[in-house]
Amino acid sequence: MPAVDVGEMSGENASGTWSYSLENSQQPSDSDHESLRQHNILLPAHLQNGQILKGEIPSWMEGILLRNGPGMHTIGESRYNHWFDGMALLHSFTIKNGEVFYRSKYLRSDTYNCNIEANRIVVSEFGTMAYPDPCKNIFSKAFCYLSHTIPEFTDNCLINIMKNGDDFYATSEVNFIRKINPQTLETLEKVDYTKYVAINLATSHPHYDSAGNVLNMGTSIVDKGKTKYVIFKIPSTVPVSEKKKKKRLKHLEVMCTIPSRSLLHPSYYHSFGMSENYIIFVEQPFKLDILKMATAYIRGVNWASCLTFHKDDKTWIHLIDRRTKKVISTKYYADAMVLFHHVNAYEEDDHVIVDIISYTDNSLYHMFYLKNLDSQFESSVKLTSNPSCKRFVLPLQCDQDSEIGSNLVQLPSTTATALKEKDGSIYCQPETLCQGIELPRINYDYNGKKYRYIFATEVKWLPVPTQIVKFDILTKQRLQWEEEHCWPAEPVFVPSPNAKEEDEGIILSTIVTSDSQKLPFLLILDAKTFKEIARATVDVKLHLDLHGSFIPQKDLKTEHEGDLDREQE
Ligand SMILES: [Fe+2]
Repeated sequence: MPAVDVGEMSGENASGTWSYSLENSQQPSDSDHESLRQHNILLPAHLQNGQILKGEIPSWMEGILLRNGPGMHTIGESRYNHWFDGMALLHSFTIKNGEVFYRSKYLRSDTYNCNIEANRIVVSEFGTMAYPDPCKNIFSKAFCYLSHTIPEFTDNCLINIMKNGDDFYATSEVNFIRKINPQTLETLEKVDYTKYVAINLATSHPHYDSAGNVLNMGTSIVDKGKTKYVIFKIPSTVPVSEKKKKKRLKHLEVMCTIPSRSLLHPSYYHSFGMSENYIIFVEQPFKLDILKMATAYIRGVNWASCLTFHKDDKTWIHLIDRRTKKVISTKYYADAMVLFHHVNAYEEDDHVIVDIISYTDNSLYHMFYLKNLDSQFESSVKLTSNPSCKRFVLPLQCDQDSEIGSNLVQLPSTTATALKEKDGSIYCQPETLCQGIELPRINYDYNGKKYRYIFATEVKWLPVPTQIVKFDILTKQRLQWEEEHCWPAEPVFVPSPNAKEEDEGIILSTIVTSDSQKLPFLLILDAKTFKEIARATVDVKLHLDLHGSFIPQKDLKTEHEGDLDREQE
């Protein structure tokens, strides 16, 4: 079956189990590792009844676990260099009346369509520079730019799902997001942030305030030569008079801008923190080199090679007051680190507590080059820096009279320190909460508030997780779930209705198996005890994904509203 046929096969009427193998998918067979092969399989969209092997799904549990991640790494004869480059494959587990239904569908991005039509990779991703015929694809205009500094980025939105009002978007880290139908996984409108705000990059980890408004950050690389970070808000609702068009993005508001410390070397960041009154932006010395980016295309190197970790630089931590929309004047800094995921942040007695997962180098990205993920990867590929969950404590009251070198942290519950420097800046040294966890999730009702539990995957030194864990910050105790040949995805917490306690709810995690004899499944755990409640196996090739969220039934549009969306395209 040639790759170009997949689109034609993937109608919503397709159902049942498709028989797939590497032999009929025209994919290379140079990877001997069964579970990594799964990424290369062209999986058609389909709907399949899940089989509940054991347990019972709570009756209140109705909705869709919607997830995103790279699913296709080979197109025709061409192959991406990096796992994070793969074509976005959305998949979902719909839970209804105690049953589970699985569905998956490639995001029909312009990038996907161009690649499939050409039967090769013609659009560059972060780790793979592509050299298409500039006259024959929609990206031709961008490739005519002499400098190629700011490329027309891909719309292969493979990292996460963003909710805005009752709309959902597949997101990555560039200026494009793709609206999707969470029920059918259809790809809808392509949205270009630059029409609403001058940014070239944006995080895939927005926050949501209590009104459901989206808060996100992006980087403006070339805006009259002033490289800056932009914090913006997309409202969850629009004025009644504009309800029909639903263009919430037209009401996007820039809350604050922060100049980059270096115009030519803006920091890379994957997420940011939010407490009740502050946005926390960590400007880490893991930086994009704009001049290198400008010449990457002609030098034949990927954009990832333009990212450098400056291990001798400082990490600057900016606090933006959400009330005044201004950066507070105190300069907080820490030692050099690499950070992808914030866990949570909150305020306590005039301090801002910021919990993150950090590394001492950038080996994580390198580990996911596909050349490293061969059959031997479990023994040959190792992270050189284990992820650490760190707690930084930023004192808000920095008394002019306090002594140079004194610790301004007044909280007895932490060992984190914040030392006053001669120039008035504050040097922050974190407390290590725990080691070896990544893809952290919390009960989002506690986002920005004092909280106790982190749900995460255990990563240690390997690229694939083998456990999901619940970490109790107060007692430092862990609960784990693991099973032989199982690679769990990011655990998503769903609160019980009228939950009184932070961990009252369930955990959902999709489990990829490394044993071809064992079917993948949706795992449902009691979040309090971490005991298994139920599992639903699916007879499909499940792919390892990145992020996603659970959408309760009440937040889903009716079929009629979904149809209207499609008509508006
Ligand atoms: Fe992430």
